[in-house]
Parts: sequence; C-alpha cells; structure tokens
Amino acid sequence: MAIKYSEKVIEHFKNPHNIGELEQPSGAATEGSPACGDQLSIYLDIEEGTNVIKDIKFQSYGCASNIATASIITDMAKGKTIDQAKEISWKQAAEELGGLPPVKMHCSVLAVDALRSAIKDYEKKHLGKEFDESMSKENVKKELQKIIYGKVGVDILTLKLVKYIGIDNDNNIIIDLEMDKGDKFLPDIKEEIEEHLSKFDRANEIKINVV
Ligand code: FES
Repeated sequence: MAIKYSEKVIEHFKNPHNIGELEQPSGAATEGSPACGDQLSIYLDIEEGTNVIKDIKFQSYGCASNIATASIITDMAKGKTIDQAKEISWKQAAEELGGLPPVKMHCSVLAVDALRSAIKDYEKKHLGKEFDESMSKENVKKELQKIIYGKVGVDILTLKLVKYIGIDNDNNIIIDLEMDKGDKFLPDIKEEIEEHLSKFDRANEIKINVV
C-alpha cells in the first residue's frame, strides 16, 4: 500500500530548505535512527554570548520524511536561542508538516535528535558543559527492557509501547509511551520507569508522556 504524505511533506522533500554543510560549525552532530539505520547530520552557526542560531544546515542520508522533517526543523530553529531550539519536539515538527504517517514518525524523532545533539556539541565545546555519558539512551533502553507489561507478561520495549526515549540538554529523561490513558497497568508502569531510571544520578527529572 502506498504511503500518503501531506502536500507540505512533498514540498519540503522536493525543495528542502537549509541543505548543505557549514565549513566551521560551532556545533555539529550526526545521528542514526535505531528504527531504520538512516542518518542525518546537522551543522550550527551560533552567536556566542546570545546563543542565537544564526545559520543551520543539514545533510540527510535518509528517506523523504527525514529530508522533509530536517528541512522544517532547521527552519523552525533558525533565529532561535539554543534553549528555545531544544524545546522543538518531534511532534511539533510532524504537525508543522501537516502530519506524518505513523510508520514515519521515527524520521521526525531522528531530525529532532540530531538537532539536540548538535546543540549539545556546541554546549560542550563553547560553554564548557559536561554531560554524563553513562546516562546514554542505550543504557536507558536497557533499563526499560526490564519493565514488564503485566497484562501480557512481555517487556514494554518488545511490545513497542515506548515510542521515544530522549535525554535533553538539562539531563531530563523523556519517555513517550503509546498506551491507552485508562489502561489499569499504566500507573504501575510509570512507577516502575521512575524507579528503574532513578539509578541515573545525573537525571534531573523523568518526564513520562502518554501519547
Ligand atoms: Fe529512516 Fe525515515 S525511514 S529516517
């Protein structure tokens, strides 16, 4: 079955904005999607002092939705401070594009992850911020693998109830769960997530969203 894309996705795919590379970026990162293996690089030119993103470019080695979401988030981030740009979520990016098919949501996640990593790179190199790498997404994932959905006795990752794992630049861990808000196992799962992730000392807050 053919995937249906919004007009805006097609427009950004055909004529992507901000494509290319910056010669001496103040921050840059390449991220790969665990869901499909595609990659995206983001380059930032940030004004020191104000931390405003003056210029931003991207190179995509991914699908049409990856190119379209990278195009839209680079538009959204340009002119913003790094703190404002960190707040751009994969949901907002998808909404801004007039929606994405559910099987393509991870492409938007990849775009947001690459932007956040590039900002992190700037914060490390220019603002002297330190990040605890032991609190990596991989390690968070390993903890979530230990949490079992009581209804069927299988872990929440295998069941694909975890739609997003993120660590923002303020060391908050963000987990998006795709579950029915009325599910009677939800409070237990939330409690267990908090318990398991509290082992990461550097974690500021654990934010669990039910999407
Ligand atoms: Fe891989 Fe879209 S399918 S980023």
